Amino acid sequence: MAESSAGKVKRSSSVRGRFNRALLLFYIISVLVSIPATYFLTKQQVLSQADRELTLLVDMIRAARNVVREETRPYFMPKGEFFGPTISSTVMANTIAGKFLREQPDYYIKIASDNPLNLKNLPEPLETQLLSRFRADGELKRIVETGTVKGKLYLVSAAPAKVKKGCMRCHGDPAEAPSEITEPYGTTSGYHYTMGDVVGATVVGVPLADVNSLVVQRSIAVIITLSLLFALVLVLVNLLVRRSIINPLSAITAHAYAVSHGDFDAVFDKENLRDDEIGELAISFELMRRSMLLAAKRLKGG
Ligand code: HEC
Repeated sequence: MAESSAGKVKRSSSVRGRFNRALLLFYIISVLVSIPATYFLTKQQVLSQADRELTLLVDMIRAARNVVREETRPYFMPKGEFFGPTISSTVMANTIAGKFLREQPDYYIKIASDNPLNLKNLPEPLETQLLSRFRADGELKRIVETGTVKGKLYLVSAAPAKVKKGCMRCHGDPAEAPSEITEPYGTTSGYHYTMGDVVGATVVGVPLADVNSLVVQRSIAVIITLSLLFALVLVLVNLLVRRSIINPLSAITAHAYAVSHGDFDAVFDKENLRDDEIGELAISFELMRRSMLLAAKRLKGG
């Protein structure tokens, strides 16, 4: 209350106001910085997690293919036993993928081709685009990027399927293909491969969590935390400023005002004073008042 009684001189700003404005500005900047930071970190996190899963899945498919190349094909081929998954690594990969996706429908595995035996393997728009990129650049071994298939966002890894000599047994001239192929798949599509051509692409996709809704959730949590923190700091700073700056200054101001109006005997209220810079100011002022009092007495007496 000393503040208002002493406030004879009109002020256009206050210490507390300045502290509060600085805090508010700091709060707004923190919130504004936290949103893009949250977005960036969340995106990084989602991508790196998907990347780890993708590596696992791609390596698993590769391992399945190697089972055929190194184990089942050398064993069954010489015996003349013809069963797709044991002879062709592509068929094995496709078979395993089909069973895996029954357990994990969120993932995506496909061996796509625009000249397929199985029409289910016809490419989606993303795969058509991947195929033409592999065809345009024969050196390209793998493409990893985000992509949308049937409206779902994935981190996708794609590798080209190139025709080698061994493929011709099933994918060459349909007249020479084994009946195990021509009977179920017909003779119109999936044949007449040319050596070295890119006929398809193995596409593996890991679902990408919806970054935007994660960012909204996390940003709300961050903003609530920041707001609580700043509210606490605001209350503490105001309390501190009031107790250690404003109250003692107001007391000094009131006292100085009284003295300036000729009340040299005005008693100084030491209640709010502390042993700090403001306390020092008060003591200097009190010394000045006493000197002035002495000087005034001497003048009167003389
Ligand atoms: C033992 C026979 C056989 C051999 C050898 C073979 N494939 Fe296949 N391939 C198949 C069968 C059967 C399918 C269909 C699988 C399905 O139903 O999804 C297939 C599917 C594919 C597909 C998916 C598109 C489609 O046709 O349905 C691609 C691409 C493919 N094979 C490429 C190759 C390549 C490249 C090679 C040589 C490295 C090869 N295949 C060797 C039998 C074979």
